[in-house]
Amino acid sequence: MFEPDTVWEFSMANRVKFGTGSVSELPTEIRSRDGDTALIVTDEGVKEAGVIDQVTAPLRQQEDIDVEVFAGVEPDPSLKIFEAAISVAREIEPDVVIGVGGGSSIDVAKTTGVVYKYGGEILDYVAPPTGDGKPVPGPTLPVIAIPTTAGTGSETSPVSVISLPDRKLKVGISSKHQYPDLALVDPSLTVSLPPGPTASSGMDALSHAIESYTTRRFDTKPRPEDPADRPDYNGRTILTDQLARKAIELIADNLRRAVNNGSDLEARRNMSLASLMAGIAFTNAGLGATHAMAYPVAGEHHTPHGVTIATLLPAVMRFNATGAFDRYDEIARLMGEDVEGLSRDAAAEKAATAVAKLASDVGIPENLTELGVTEDEIAAFAEDTMEIQRLLVGNPRRVEQVDVEHIFQQSL
Ligand SMILES: [Fe+2]
Repeated sequence: MFEPDTVWEFSMANRVKFGTGSVSELPTEIRSRDGDTALIVTDEGVKEAGVIDQVTAPLRQQEDIDVEVFAGVEPDPSLKIFEAAISVAREIEPDVVIGVGGGSSIDVAKTTGVVYKYGGEILDYVAPPTGDGKPVPGPTLPVIAIPTTAGTGSETSPVSVISLPDRKLKVGISSKHQYPDLALVDPSLTVSLPPGPTASSGMDALSHAIESYTTRRFDTKPRPEDPADRPDYNGRTILTDQLARKAIELIADNLRRAVNNGSDLEARRNMSLASLMAGIAFTNAGLGATHAMAYPVAGEHHTPHGVTIATLLPAVMRFNATGAFDRYDEIARLMGEDVEGLSRDAAAEKAATAVAKLASDVGIPENLTELGVTEDEIAAFAEDTMEIQRLLVGNPRRVEQVDVEHIFQQSL
């Protein structure tokens, strides 16, 4: 007999520090962790944009703090890149690892904190069959996550994603011990982010908010036999709902502004806040079909995550509407649509249209065809999507392979 869960859990980065200029407090943060040596993990683009200078400026005035910068992170970082960062750590023996960048740099920093502290190989901590599935034994070397985009939510997630290009595979490490010790969110670091990545990371944040607001509620999921087996994505709760709602509103009001004028600090601040809130919401509640469907597409076409997501989200919302009409009605309202007196169908349609309109206004390609996806790829993509049950189990409407094919068709 189905026994529903009656308990939910909520986790996030140990601490959050948010605000313009917060990066100037980095010396205090390093010292408070009994540290004098910091390893910054980042990528060349962030470094060239001057963001690393911005982050290290307050540190250079401190004689008692040594900083080493590893700028070798690339998008979808491979095992080799993780290993390179860990070997720099072994050389300089840092007290703190600081990930500065998008999700990739922060992911590399998090896992560097694990493997540097507990030794062994990265694959020891990856789930079988690819890895040995060894649990992270305890707290890692302190990790400070400093996002330079507003979208991924990696600054407050327990997950890192590792590419194995030889095996055309992406694997992950997920552990309660892998939450950053501090998410340091300084919106001024996002000012140099160009319009394209601002738009795509912002749409990713919107999808995190919408998918966590519509994902299945915790008490519609089965109670785990062992409480230790309750999944990280344990369903939406009153707490994740509040975060998701506010994030949707902030993104609808601010993403266009942040893309049109990158120096609009108020818009940047609201986008950073929305991204953080949506990140905390989805890392507890879970996601849905949009994220499951985006992975096979991006794996084949190497399209940016947020762009892939944005081209799929409206069709997924239309499909899902019958699974959670009240939720889509509310999303339409939060995005500024007038749904007074409309039927449930019409209100849900307004929500999907509002998302498509926002994506179009910020210059995201209209559909999957523009990303190079063709009709004959759909069957294989749908098959791969069905493998990602960890995301699909949260989808508000039951999804079969034929449904996924239909949604892909609608997104072409
Ligand atoms: Fe995402």
